[in-house]
Amino acid sequence: SEPTPFVIGIDGPSGSGKSSVSRAVASRLGAGYLDTGAMYRALTWWCRHTEVDLGDAAAITRAALELPLTIGDDPEAPTVLVDGTDVAEAIRTSEISSLVSTIATVPDVRVEMQRRQRALIEDIADRHGACVAEGRDVTTVIAPDAPVRILLTASEEARLRRRSLEVHGASDQAAIEATRDQVVRRDRDDSTVSQFTEAAEGVSVVDTSDLDFEGSVAAVMAIVDAARTR
Ligand code: DC
Repeated sequence: SEPTPFVIGIDGPSGSGKSSVSRAVASRLGAGYLDTGAMYRALTWWCRHTEVDLGDAAAITRAALELPLTIGDDPEAPTVLVDGTDVAEAIRTSEISSLVSTIATVPDVRVEMQRRQRALIEDIADRHGACVAEGRDVTTVIAPDAPVRILLTASEEARLRRRSLEVHGASDQAAIEATRDQVVRRDRDDSTVSQFTEAAEGVSVVDTSDLDFEGSVAAVMAIVDAARTR
């Protein structure tokens, strides 16, 4: 019989190192990759582009159903196309970051995105033999039966330090304070999306607060290797 496609779900808050770690793990495994957060960002970009009223949940839901999204599965070059336009950079602006939770909290939008995400994960895992999918609800809602489910966490201090390095190129106290409001607000907005700061049953927790990038990748790889030999 065919081996079951291998799915690795990785959830966590922003600043946990989730994206860079997920991509590195997928590369090392020769697996395909799906960034579910990029899909909510792409929808947000599309709603702006087509001038959808962000106060109109029904209009946002229609946009989600129609979203002409093509998302790549290469962890080394994750492409995002909306209606043929490359939006990989445009979806990372602070404008999109600050609007995305408005869209991600519309229940029917989540139903549609989760439906797409399940189909994409199945297709990617079929084609590559494995798929690393990252987000907020992969381990709990999208792929609760995945053989590997991991919650990456980090202390608020560690997440602030990383985010401030990313955004300001520095992690001195002034840069951290400039980042604090944004990170705290994102956490609060995201917490209404799904409960992703506590691990569901059967989910392995990796706390990256005291780990560097290589250490975080190694910790995740150890969990993957243990599951593969099981
Ligand atoms: O991981 P990220 O910052 O790119 O995610 C962008 C937003 O999308 C974030 O506000 C939370 C939301 N999101 C979600 O609701 N469900 C997911 N599976 C992934 C992201």
